[in-house]
Amino acid sequence: MKSMRQSPTDPAFVQNPYAFYEEARPHGPLVWWKEYGMPAALSQDLVQALFKDRRFGREVPAELAQPHAAHLDPFYTIEAHSMLELEPPRHTRLRSLVLRAFTTRQIQAMRDDIHALCHDLIDAFPKGPFDLIPAYAAPLPVAIICRLLGFPEAMGEQLLLWSNDMVAMYQARRTREIEDRAAQASTEFADFVRSYIDQRRANPSDDLLTQLIAAEEDGEKLSTDELVTTCILLLNAGHEATVHSLGNGVKTLLEHQTPIEAYAPDRIDRTVEEILRYDPPLHMFTRHAYEPVEIAGHQFKRGDQVALLLGAANRDPLAYEDAQSFDTTRAPLKNAAFGGGLHFCVGAPLARLELQIALPILFERCPNLSLAEAPQYANLYHFHGLDRLLVTS
Ligand code: HEM
Repeated sequence: MKSMRQSPTDPAFVQNPYAFYEEARPHGPLVWWKEYGMPAALSQDLVQALFKDRRFGREVPAELAQPHAAHLDPFYTIEAHSMLELEPPRHTRLRSLVLRAFTTRQIQAMRDDIHALCHDLIDAFPKGPFDLIPAYAAPLPVAIICRLLGFPEAMGEQLLLWSNDMVAMYQARRTREIEDRAAQASTEFADFVRSYIDQRRANPSDDLLTQLIAAEEDGEKLSTDELVTTCILLLNAGHEATVHSLGNGVKTLLEHQTPIEAYAPDRIDRTVEEILRYDPPLHMFTRHAYEPVEIAGHQFKRGDQVALLLGAANRDPLAYEDAQSFDTTRAPLKNAAFGGGLHFCVGAPLARLELQIALPILFERCPNLSLAEAPQYANLYHFHGLDRLLVTS
C-alpha cells in the first residue's frame, strides 16, 4: 500500500483537501495516511462497502479501549451513551427511539417553520458586507433542531458555543486547551439538559423530548444518562454539518454563477445533492476492524482502524462523470455525504429539507448576492466548513 504524507492542518490542504485526494487516488482505493497512522479509503465503492461491512464498526473493541485522561471525564461520560459511538444492540435501541421523531411526516411538518424563519433572517440582513454564516447558515438549523426536539430556541447561541467546543475534540488540531474547553462545555451542556428535562417532565408536549422522556420513565428503554446524551447528540449533530453545508453551498453556487433555474422546485433537489457531493461538510470518519479481514490487499487485524474519506469518495471519477466539476443538472447518484450502513445520518431528510428551502429563498430574495471576499475554510479537518462567508446582498 502506498504511504502518503499530508498534515491535516496544513493551510493549503485545509483550503483544498481535494488536491491531496487526487494525488493519492492513482495509488488505488486504499492508501496509508501517515499522519493518521491508518489506511484511508478513497473510492466511492470502497467507502460504501466499509460503511456497510459489519466486520467493521465505530465502537472500539472492549479489550483495546484505552483509558482516557481524567480531565476528559465529562466529555467521555457523554460519549459513552452516544448512538454514534455504539454498535448493536445498544445502537439499535437508541436509534429506533429517535427515528420515531424523524418520520417523513414529522420532518415535512417543519416546512412552514423553515420557510418563515428564512424570511425573518433575511429581513434582518444588514446593509453592506456581512458574514452569511451567523446571519443565515447557523441560526436556521439551530432554531429548527431546538423546535423539533422541544428545547427553547433562546438557547441557540449558547448551544452553538457548547457544540463548537465539544466537536473540536474530533479535529486534527486538538490541544490540551481544546480538551479543557470540551470538558467544560460537556459539563455545562449536560447540566442544562438534565435540569430542562426535569422541568419538562411536568409539561409533556408533542415533541421528541416528550417521547424520549416517556421512554425513559418506562424504565427499560432508555436510561437517564442515555436520554441526556441523545439530546446533546441531536442538538449538536442537528446543526453542525447543516451550517457548513449551507455555507459551502452558497460559496459554490456563487463561485459558479449558478443560473436561477437551479433553484426551481423541480430542480432544487438535484442542486442540493450536487452541493453535498461536491463539497461535503464532513470529510472523514473512522471504523475499527472487529476480526481479521483483507480489504483491497491490506490485512486488518482486530482493532485496526481505517479512515473513510467521504470528500474523496464524492469526487471519484469511477463513480461520477467529470467528478471535479460542479454540475447542478447532474442526475443524482448515491454519494457519501451522509455516510451509509447502520450509522447513516438520522437527520438526512431534515438537512435536505432545510437546504432545499433555504437556498431558493435566499437567492430569490437576494438576486444580487455576491462574495465580498474570497471565502476561507476553517482549520477544522475532518470538518470542512468556512471560517466566514462575507457577502453583499
Ligand atoms: C448536511 C447535513 C448533515 C450531514 C452532511 C451529516 C452527515 C452525517 C454522517 C456522515 C453521519 C455518519 C457518521 C458515521 O457513519 O460515522 C451522520 C450521523 C448522524 N447524524 Fe448527520 N449529518 C447532517 C445533518 C444532521 C442533522 C440535521 C441531524 C439531526 C438530528 C443529524 C443527526 C445525526 C445522527 C444522530 C447521527 C448518528 C446516527 C447513528 O449513529 O446511527 N445529522 N451524519
